[in-house]
Amino acid sequence: MKTILEQISVIAADAFEQAGYDRSYGKAGVSNRPDLCEFQCNGAMAGAKEYHKAPIKIAEEVAEKLAGNPAFSEVGAVAPGFINISLSGDFLAGFLNSIAEEEKFGLELPRPKKIIVDYGGPNVAKPLHVGHLRAAIIGESVKRICRYMGNEVIGDVHLGDWGLQMGLIITELKERFPDLPYFDENYTGTYPENPPFTLSELEEIYPAASARSKEDEAYREAALEATKQLQSGRRGYRAIWQHIMDVSIPDLKRNYADLSVEFDWWKGESSVDGIIPSMADDMKKNGFAHESEGALVVDVAEESDTKEIPPCMILKSDGAALYTTTDLATILDRMNTFAPDQMIYVVDKRQDMHFLQVFRCARKCGIVKEDTGLDFLGFGTMNGKDGKPFKTREGGVMRLETLIAEIRDTMLKKIMDNHEADQEEAAKTAKIVALAAIKYGDLSNQATKDYVFDTDKFTSFEGNTGPYILYTIVRIKSILNRYMEAEGEIPGTIRSAKSEYEKALMLSLSKFAGVIRSAYEEIAPHRICAYIYDVCNDLNRFYHETRILAEEDTAKKKGWIALLALTEKILATCIDLLGFSAPERM
Ligand code: ARG
Repeated sequence: MKTILEQISVIAADAFEQAGYDRSYGKAGVSNRPDLCEFQCNGAMAGAKEYHKAPIKIAEEVAEKLAGNPAFSEVGAVAPGFINISLSGDFLAGFLNSIAEEEKFGLELPRPKKIIVDYGGPNVAKPLHVGHLRAAIIGESVKRICRYMGNEVIGDVHLGDWGLQMGLIITELKERFPDLPYFDENYTGTYPENPPFTLSELEEIYPAASARSKEDEAYREAALEATKQLQSGRRGYRAIWQHIMDVSIPDLKRNYADLSVEFDWWKGESSVDGIIPSMADDMKKNGFAHESEGALVVDVAEESDTKEIPPCMILKSDGAALYTTTDLATILDRMNTFAPDQMIYVVDKRQDMHFLQVFRCARKCGIVKEDTGLDFLGFGTMNGKDGKPFKTREGGVMRLETLIAEIRDTMLKKIMDNHEADQEEAAKTAKIVALAAIKYGDLSNQATKDYVFDTDKFTSFEGNTGPYILYTIVRIKSILNRYMEAEGEIPGTIRSAKSEYEKALMLSLSKFAGVIRSAYEEIAPHRICAYIYDVCNDLNRFYHETRILAEEDTAKKKGWIALLALTEKILATCIDLLGFSAPERM
């Protein structure tokens, strides 16, 4: 069904037409002077040129046609040519009652697309740390929004499992345990089933190797060679690689599950290893790739570039694949197996050059179709209160698990301080609220911007925070539950608003479809955060001025309860799109 703005626009367009002007001037928008009106139409100003008429004259003529329309309570032409509009209580209530009946609150779905959201991107063998938080949180929300819009959506974790870090681990293992069969090139037997390391050993091995490679040139060379041999199929190295994957992936899955983040595909850079040679050959054969200092490259600079865009490297001079290579082969693989209409990458914005090169190269070489969307949503850095990238108190990289545990503890303390609660239930609630605190704290910022992770602020029950949103939802649930206990069922019909605050809440609810659509089109979950913050503020203002359950006029009370029920459903839908949920009590 049409959004509230579209419905208002149709009425305004009719009026323009009746007054002798083109319908196209009837486009309405939300008022930027909410103290004066709820919606406005600026078409008279736009039309003044075409009709050689003062905009206010046109506005007056159109306003006259609009006056008396049952959808509106007030219409006014205001200098220099605005048409100010406020909705009638009946129209607004009618609109809400009809969206309440609809599956997605009247949201119209576009032609469904096939979309892959590439997010997460952790490197195996390293524990998840706070640097992985944003990709997970934003990507999960983007995936859910795309799915809600009716698309077929795949979330792909795209593991970093094929680069130098693998060669480093192999090299370090060889140093420590040279007698293991993996390093004996003449070994033809089967390799041990159990890995020669535990997860925590692996987590120590990798940074040790990485540190050493920065100081020891020969060691680094050995790691590069090991990477190459792994990629070219050396049996023993592939076996170590498999061990690393077997040890890492369950841990990654557990960590992501703690964040309510779930991937459909657990593919990685390694998954496309087999198609790299033929991809590189095709690029050469078709004249897109050429040799440069021994390496195979594709030029991706364009005439209109204002800065230098270096060529996209496909193969190093030793034939090894690079980060660009695996990303290109991944695109090729996705086109061959799933043929998506769009791929959305949620990755640190410092990788923008990488993706610019990859996207251009994919288009140039015909790996994607002309109309395949390639979108890079580059996110900013999560900083600490000092404005520098978030660190532990000791200045180290904080593990994701540690951060989550700290926020859970903080929430648990707050919940226990607030009221007496059963310890076990409080812990469960704290877990739910902590997730909302973390996710909302992140998502309420525009993804591309850096933001400060402020534990005190994010865990507060007041202000623009996850806990505040959940607190409001729990408040509504509690009223609805009490009503249910007394009356047995939740009434269905919302009535015309009797107060300013009630109408404000209704107006906010009416904007749901427009908000979701723009969050989807702009790939912008923060729009949903801003929206639910408004809805919650409106709800709380209404709640504070209204004695809902004590109301004696039952018709009035029923209307309010129906309004609360719709508010709760809309909020629950929105937080699900953001990737968290609400507890029953708080
Ligand atoms: N593993 C990469 C890193 O740690 C991120 C992967 C992002 N996704 C992609 N398709 N390149 O930087």
